[in-house]
Amino acid sequence: QEAHAAELERTFIAIKPDGVQRGLIAEIISRFERKGYKLVAIKLIVPSKEFAQTHYHDLKDRPFFNGLCDFLSSGPVLAMVWEGEGVIKYGRKLIGTTDPQKSEPGTIRGDLAVVVGRNIIHGSDGPETARNEIALWFEPSELVSYASNAEKWLY
Ligand code: PPS
Repeated sequence: QEAHAAELERTFIAIKPDGVQRGLIAEIISRFERKGYKLVAIKLIVPSKEFAQTHYHDLKDRPFFNGLCDFLSSGPVLAMVWEGEGVIKYGRKLIGTTDPQKSEPGTIRGDLAVVVGRNIIHGSDGPETARNEIALWFEPSELVSYASNAEKWLY
């Protein structure tokens, strides 16, 4: 209990339109839940193209930028914030590498996706990105702080 007095780490995770359309929401959420991470915000939204461009602004010079933004704004996205020790880095581990062909079996992309342009899920790649992406996708009032009973067995 005393080991986690400081605020726990948070990351932004989004199930992209392909993951939503393929019916993978429960499968993906359950992997984060079973690990021991806590869901503190969630909503289903269709982002505009402009919003997608803001989300991926770091990639604006990449050849795939336009297609990636079209794709993200092509349907419902499940936006989430997950909390827990090491969740930014370990969340990326649960997700697997960018290219599903190179993702290990056992990871979300390794088990559930085939090509990079349809890799079903996004996760913040570091603390600063996590802060920025959470602020972009959610109002502060949408982040829910609550005690979970599991915590005393996890930490
Ligand atoms: S990089 O090169 O390190 O910046 O790339 P990476 O961080 O792995 O990927 C950044 C996001 O771009 C997506 N991506 C692509 N989309 C479509 N086509 C191609 N070729 C491609 N390459 C990378 C990748 O999925 C990352 O998006 P998110 O939403 O974070 O997964």
